[in-house]
Amino acid sequence: MKVLVVGGGGREHALVWKISQSPLVGKIYCAPGNPGIKELAECVSIAADDIDGLFVFAQENAIDLTVVGPEIPLTMGICDRFRNAGLDIFGPSKAAAQIEGSKGFSKDLMARYNIPTAAYQSFTDRDAAVAYIKEQGAPIVVKADGLAAGKGVIVAMDEETAIAAIEDIMVESVFGDAGSSVVIEEFMEGEEASFFAFTDGKNILPLDSSQDHKRVFDNDEGLNTGGMGAYSPAPVVNAEINAQIIDKIVRPTIAGMASDGCPYSGILYVGLMIKDGVARVVEFNARFGDPEAQPLLARMKSDIVPVLQACARGQLNVSELEWHDKAAVCVVMASGGYPGSFEKELPIGGLDAADEIDDLIVFHAGTTEKDGQVVNNGGRVLGVTGLGATVEQAITKAYEGVEKISWDKVHYRNDIGQKALKYFK
Ligand code: AMP
Ligand code: GLY
Repeated sequence: MKVLVVGGGGREHALVWKISQSPLVGKIYCAPGNPGIKELAECVSIAADDIDGLFVFAQENAIDLTVVGPEIPLTMGICDRFRNAGLDIFGPSKAAAQIEGSKGFSKDLMARYNIPTAAYQSFTDRDAAVAYIKEQGAPIVVKADGLAAGKGVIVAMDEETAIAAIEDIMVESVFGDAGSSVVIEEFMEGEEASFFAFTDGKNILPLDSSQDHKRVFDNDEGLNTGGMGAYSPAPVVNAEINAQIIDKIVRPTIAGMASDGCPYSGILYVGLMIKDGVARVVEFNARFGDPEAQPLLARMKSDIVPVLQACARGQLNVSELEWHDKAAVCVVMASGGYPGSFEKELPIGGLDAADEIDDLIVFHAGTTEKDGQVVNNGGRVLGVTGLGATVEQAITKAYEGVEKISWDKVHYRNDIGQKALKYFK
């Protein structure tokens, strides 16, 4: 069969890598892809948000299954467009993608179905929002309602910061329309984890656990990023928490969406805060996590293609996924300055040397080619993913790869995976 993967980041490289191992697949296209993906798939220069271009390409090339990586095309309605024309596509409808595209939508859904999350209120009026912050006090969390490229959440440790965030979002419109409405919610303490489940709208198929590292610097310091590294499995999600996430969060969410007339299919990403044996939802996303997809897919033993196809067709009847026993750790190598501004087109050395290491996969994210040389062109550049018998060994393997690769001003965290080790002491 012919598969089209939409996107061009580390998550999409991991998806293409995994899909390429399926005996069912004869040809993979990726739009737009990147230099790493090019080794495994034919890259076509159509942007991930060019719905018309992607649709025409899929029709003209008789694509059997389209797999959407990023959230933007999902919230723009790519799946509705394909499905209306009878094309199989993996991902939620535009209406269901609001679970990520609108914080208010997802908070209201959770309230309706008693899904554990932070207490909250939504506001479209600046004065009412400020009055609520003064009444609740700090710490408190302010979130722009719409998509803001991961920057629309302000965790305010004092009232002034929270009120300044309201001014920025609602008065100065720093996130444009995404900030015409805000959610203000209770600050939750605990340890964060990411949980994913495939679903066809009714049935669910949970993945193994994983954990991201959102802050830019070691020890979770500095600004929030898209994610500086991830590992799987994540011991904070023990068997009891795992069962709780499935029974109290994933099942009622999927059942609730269906009974609201807005069935959700694709992969559901649950961002969690875990404290004292209780898991609560920080946010939902309508797609695979990036970088979480890299360690998860590196560990997945089952063929992913029948699962993606079954979700796309509303016929998910696989009851369990098989996983390799090894742990996986992905260290993100980023451009110095990220998540702020950074220099581009810096030549990246050492990729061939890293390729020679066993149990190591270098997923490309923000890379491109210039004069035959791989150079950086995004904030998160590579996801160096190591496998090992334990998380500790996977960490060693990933950093062995990282040490082979270099470019001017490269930045990465040195403590990816360390959070897991405390559970083994
Ligand atoms: P989100 O985009 O909603 O995942 O938020 C980005 C990050 O902000 C999360 O990964 C958390 O680290 C933090 N965050 C969001 N909501 C809360 C909350 N209610 N309490 C504490 N931290 C939060
Ligand atoms: N790793 C965080 C995200 O994909 O949103």
